[in-house]
Amino acid sequence: MSVTTLEVPSKNNAAAVSPATATGDVAQTTQTSAQLEARLPAQAGDAAQPDHTPLQSLVETDARCGIQNYGRLPIAFARGAGARLWDVAGREYLDFLGGIAVVTVGHAHPAVTQAVSAQAATLLHSANLYYIEPQVKLAQKLHHLSGGMRAFFCNSGAEANEAALKLARKYIQSKHGAGRFEIVTALKSFHGRTYGSLAATGQPQYHKGFEPMPPGFSYVPLNDIAALQAAVTERTAAIMLEPILGESGVLPCDDAYLQAARELCDRHGLVLILDEVQSGMGRTGKFFASEWPGGRADLEKMRKGLGNGVPDGAKLATDDDETSIAPGNHGCTFGGNFLSCAAALATLQVIEDEKLMQNATEIGGYFRERLMHWGETTKLAQELRGRGLIIGVELNQPIARDLMQAALQNGLVFNAVGDGILRFLPPLCITRADVDEAMDKLANAERGMMNDE
Ligand SMILES: Cc1ncc(COP(=O)(O)O)c(C=O)c1O
Repeated sequence: MSVTTLEVPSKNNAAAVSPATATGDVAQTTQTSAQLEARLPAQAGDAAQPDHTPLQSLVETDARCGIQNYGRLPIAFARGAGARLWDVAGREYLDFLGGIAVVTVGHAHPAVTQAVSAQAATLLHSANLYYIEPQVKLAQKLHHLSGGMRAFFCNSGAEANEAALKLARKYIQSKHGAGRFEIVTALKSFHGRTYGSLAATGQPQYHKGFEPMPPGFSYVPLNDIAALQAAVTERTAAIMLEPILGESGVLPCDDAYLQAARELCDRHGLVLILDEVQSGMGRTGKFFASEWPGGRADLEKMRKGLGNGVPDGAKLATDDDETSIAPGNHGCTFGGNFLSCAAALATLQVIEDEKLMQNATEIGGYFRERLMHWGETTKLAQELRGRGLIIGVELNQPIARDLMQAALQNGLVFNAVGDGILRFLPPLCITRADVDEAMDKLANAERGMMNDE
């Protein structure tokens, strides 16, 4: 199979997107909050609660005043510490989702709190017309961690991807002329919601209703080296991949596939763009997931965990790619501001001081062992995927969302990707005791569900 044109599933071919491939966020957002609320079993003690709880009030006001683009679960968190969260009713949860891979070093980490508070009390914003000390320091830190790449800062993963797409095209066109612009990406990938990053996203359900997509993107099945080779033509500018596809249920690129992509880019003079928005920041046990197969990107993007919850995004470029960019070609008002860079510097320091990459490897290994054992004894799991603390469990029954909601009732937070996959992205500071507790809660949730049937 070579290049694949995306086909939007119609009512008649809706089965083209299987439960295993439908992403958690899409699947969840196709339901209204009210529908989701109806699915969540009543909380113990609900009957004793007054008519209008803080949660009900939030749900009602949001329904009236907020655009309903999220299918929210009926829970509002109010406070966090480490890997713990408390909701507005004071119930405690163990957080094995980390705000979808955002909370790298744990909630309300004192070092990050201190850095953010001190910076907020000093200076929040000037402009990128001037030098910004924390931004320069952060660039230096990332330069070191990435083996010499240069940084551009923004606020989100989608913006980092936009910057990478623009830079890749500019670089290739400055070398080869305007005929090379096409970006090859993977089916099932997720790169963001802006038009460029959405066009790069190889999932038709995200495009539906927003067409036409910007031209110049083609899609290949993941881990099919022959298809990737066939997709590269004289019009190709870049190959863009997530080393581990997070939103689609933790689908790793094979090491050989990433190496083949690198070789193809070297051979044809293309740019290799790696999107580590979800898999970076030490989550797999190395700073970038692509380091495992020895991969080297030309453009590397990261966001989620960079500021431990403070919006922050970075696109890193090799010296070579960077040469085509001139002042005025690209920018971002809030990118690299004092606050986000102070948060990111503190977060990176905590990762180093508390050896959280080693912890991700060690505790991630232990967690996978426990999940594997759970999967075997319950006979529910058919595959376990991931590295370090980005873990997906593919179930052999379509109960992922029910199990996620039952686990929430038991005080454990994780996420379901469609009906088929459980996704775990906990803060990197979790301990063995946290894993044991999470497994108890998961087992209780599963037993409770089975007993209810
Ligand atoms: C791999 C990947 N790229 C890009 C994005 C988009 O990031 P943001 O929501 O910050 O724009 C995400 C978000 O989940 C992601 O997982």
